[in-house]
Amino acid sequence: MDDGAKQMAEEESRKAERAAAAEPAACNLITRTTDWAMEIVSHYICAGDSVVDATMGNGRDTAALARLVGPSGTVTAFDVQPQALSHTAALLMELGLRSRVQLILDSHAHIGSYCKPGVAAVLFNLGYLPGGDKEIVTRSEETLAAATAALSLLKPGGLLAAVMYSGHAAGAQEKEALLRWAQELSTKEYHAAYISMWNQKKNPPEILLVTKRGQCREDILWR
Ligand SMILES: C[S@@+](CC[C@H](N)C(=O)[O-])C[C@H]1O[C@@H](n2cnc3c(N)ncnc32)[C@H](O)[C@@H]1O
Repeated sequence: MDDGAKQMAEEESRKAERAAAAEPAACNLITRTTDWAMEIVSHYICAGDSVVDATMGNGRDTAALARLVGPSGTVTAFDVQPQALSHTAALLMELGLRSRVQLILDSHAHIGSYCKPGVAAVLFNLGYLPGGDKEIVTRSEETLAAATAALSLLKPGGLLAAVMYSGHAAGAQEKEALLRWAQELSTKEYHAAYISMWNQKKNPPEILLVTKRGQCREDILWR
């Protein structure tokens, strides 16, 4: 693909992200893994909460989280690519959500330097930037460091969710590492669950969920 075509493809992909973020579609959650993860995450967040988007990408998830926390809440969003920050900032401005979000150009492995304990939810949507450089992907070592730090920041009853993509080599390794990590978490402190698309071929995305045991927020879990 030449540079012009690549730019057009990137712009198309951003337009689609903007449209999706502006009007979240009613959809079949089992076939749309990222929406399914967000639906689950939404049950752990209420107005005024602090939450983390560990992989902001083009900002679709960041925008959805910003809506969920409302004007009194905050989202701290991480990415290692300046391009992700500029796309996300533009999307948030367009949607009137910019003031609720702190955009951080750094690895999510350093989450502990930016966020205070008491976080309601941390979302990872792993892999590469849609429409961007497919060589820049999340990697097991940093993802595990980030996930471990994220758990220490979660408030009791809070949730870590990770959408995992095993269709590329680094993603397959990352998924295995995360599943092993989650399986070994103390059952006294955490509940972990794993959602797999059981009859799908070609490595569909999957979801890992970890909640810190503690007070159950009935008001938000069953709304
Ligand atoms: C699948 S995309 C995220 C999609 C995004 N949530 C959205 O709604 O558009 C994965 C992102 O993770 C970012 N990433 C890779 N390594 C990272 C790291 N160590 N810390 C934070 N982000 C990272 C990539 O640059 C990429 O933008």
